[in-house]
Order: sequence, then structure tokens, then C-alpha cells
Amino acid sequence: MTLSRYQFACLQRMGIDVWLARTTAPGDEAELMPGIRALEVSAGSPAVMDNHRELDTLREQVAGCTRCTLHETRTQTVFGVGDRQADWMIIGEAPGADEDRQGEPFVGRAGRLLNAMLLAIGLQREQVFIANILKCRPPGNRDPEPEEVTACEGYLNRQIELVDPKIILAVGRVAAQNLLKIDTPIGRMRGQRYQYGKTGRPVVVTYHPAYLLRSPLEKRKVWQDLQMAMRIYRETA
Ligand code: URA
Repeated sequence: MTLSRYQFACLQRMGIDVWLARTTAPGDEAELMPGIRALEVSAGSPAVMDNHRELDTLREQVAGCTRCTLHETRTQTVFGVGDRQADWMIIGEAPGADEDRQGEPFVGRAGRLLNAMLLAIGLQREQVFIANILKCRPPGNRDPEPEEVTACEGYLNRQIELVDPKIILAVGRVAAQNLLKIDTPIGRMRGQRYQYGKTGRPVVVTYHPAYLLRSPLEKRKVWQDLQMAMRIYRETA
């Protein structure tokens, strides 16, 4: 894989040493942004406007949700953010303290690392859609309870339908297991191509950026996962 100068810098920011063959020089930025979908429908088309309106309605429903007890302790719901026609959807676990305060997913330290991971494959945060399995913060950042996941999953499923991404990246065990409805350990999920529900959209699993902050040596594996995801995206898009 040829790396642009920009991707090279992003990998360095993630703390990954990149060894280049003598013949391979970081290229120019022309190679960047492979994740931009050539719009099949224009941004203002009625179908797109309908989808945007439905996402707005869904956001309002989520904001008033009382389906599980997490509504008692949240500051606000965290619906999701990004391009509503994104090719790439990133799915995490649940809001943490920073996200609960700001109402946006992945805004803390883990979020900054997620941004760097995306940049490493040429994607700006604004080009993807980011959501979580849960829309409310579990107190003390504990793992989501099964009844909380069940209460929230209709929202995520609808978000996926409306955004209709070409590929989904599940970050972390909780996101991957709940999205795919399997209990395979994350180490064994990596490197596999899964499919989401009936849509058959490809799903790639990688480690959660918060785990990478604790285990930086695993960043190399994430880089492999991201490269695999990009290969699958290029094949399918
Ligand atoms: N971790 C997640 O899984 N999601 C967030 O939004 C923040 C941290």
C-alpha cells in the first residue's frame, strides 16, 4: 500500500512506526479521501430530504426516550454525528462522561484517537457517521446491560437504515458483539468480514480506541484492520 504524506503523519500521531521500502516515498495528497461517495442522488433530492427529516424525528424521539433506567442518570442523550449519507458508519459502545456532557459521541481522549485512526485511512471525522450501541451514558462507564441494549437497538437499526452506509466499523467488543449478536471474543472477530442484518452491509471489527490508550502496542493490529476495511470498501463501493 502506498502511503500519502498525510496518512504517514496520522500513523505517526497514532504512535505507529511505519517502515517504508527504499523505493516507497510518501506520496502526495491526491490519494487521499478514498471514502467519499460519488453521490448517487443529489444532496437535495426528495429521497435524501426524507431521510434527513426521518433522522431529525428519530433524534427527537431519542432525546425524550425513557425506555430504560439510563434516562434517570443521563445529562443528555448522544444520538450520533456526521454525514447523514456517509459511506462509513462507526459504531462504538456508549457515551462516556465527556460525551454525556457534550451530547456528541467520541469527543474525549478515545475520540481524538478515533479521529486519528480515521485520518490514517484518509477519512475526516465529518465524512463518516458515528453512533453508539447505547444513546445514554451508563453510570460509571460500566458495560451496557442486555435490557438497555434491547431498549436502544431499534434506534441504532433505524439510523443504519437511514444513513445506509457502504461499510460499518464496529469498535470494541461491546459494539461488535451487540451489533452482530454473537459472543465471539474480539480477538477472534478481527480479520473477519461480517454482515449486518438483512442489508448484508460489510462489518469490520477492531479494538476500541480507549483500549488502545491502555495498550498502545495493539495499534498495529488496528492499522491492519483499517487497511482490511478499506480493501472491502473499495471492493464493494
Ligand atoms: N466510547 C464509546 O464507545 N463511545 C463514545 O461515544 C465514547 C467513548
